[in-house]
Amino acid sequence: MILSGKARLAGVMGWPITHTRSPRLHGYWLRRYGIDGAYVPLSVPPDGFERALRALPLLGFRGANVTVPHKEAALALCDRVDPLARRIGAVNTVVVEADRSLTGSNTDAFGFLENLRQGATWRPGGPAAVVGAGGAARAICVALLDAGVPSLRIVNRSPERAERLAAELGAIAVAVPWAERGACLAGAALLVNTTSLGMTGQPPLDLALDDLPGDALVNDIVYAPLETPLLAAARARGNPAVDGIGMLLHQARPGFEAWFGTRPQVDEDLRRFVLGEPPP
Ligand code: ATR
Repeated sequence: MILSGKARLAGVMGWPITHTRSPRLHGYWLRRYGIDGAYVPLSVPPDGFERALRALPLLGFRGANVTVPHKEAALALCDRVDPLARRIGAVNTVVVEADRSLTGSNTDAFGFLENLRQGATWRPGGPAAVVGAGGAARAICVALLDAGVPSLRIVNRSPERAERLAAELGAIAVAVPWAERGACLAGAALLVNTTSLGMTGQPPLDLALDDLPGDALVNDIVYAPLETPLLAAARARGNPAVDGIGMLLHQARPGFEAWFGTRPQVDEDLRRFVLGEPPP
């Protein structure tokens, strides 16, 4: 894409940033919609994050995504933070306003729910079991509560983290000891893995699905590989399953619309392109 002097600019700040697929994703949309704009990887170390974030208006950026390890710092630094991001405790999308102030939001919850809705006919009818209690789990639990799940079971290797998250979410959420991770699947309508277990180079998630109802939906936020051992085991016993790449694709949509002025669509072509090999 040849840029003009009026090109709209956005990017993603992270450390490290070399493995990000976001420039590929936004680059695809910029080309598809013929937009005079660019979305670039911004390698920003933690001790430079505040200066880099505050420099966005000065550099003429419309905004940026923020990823590991800056999401909590972004929450503290934005001039305005939407209530959902505050509840999640992290900002992943920053918009530079006309007066050059910074508005922070969190689109991970939206991305998670849109992925479930596009990948399956999911309705928040029964209890949800969430494995993990880190940053991704926080966004997913808040999304599930807002979507109307009747109860949440949070199971995490470190019990205190699950207990803290459950306490913050209120009476609807309970922390489940790691040893009871299989048993807590009884009666669940949804199972989500929010940990990195099952990712290429990581051990698989050690979770027996015997107690999971046959019609429960299983979702993994890991998307490399697309078919994780958890999803394969779920499909093998007949459970519906949704892979994790859609969460990445959908969480990017609100930012793209705010910066570039077009509401982008997620379809099979985009999925294939983002999953394809990045150029060497
Ligand atoms: P993210 O922001 O991506 O969620 P995180 O905050 O580091 O990352 O959280 C990682 C999650 O994966 C945590 O729930 C972590 O469990 P602990 O709280 O016990 O650390 C979980 N996790 C990572 N490696 C794990 C492993 N080998 N076994 C079980 N859980 C693991």
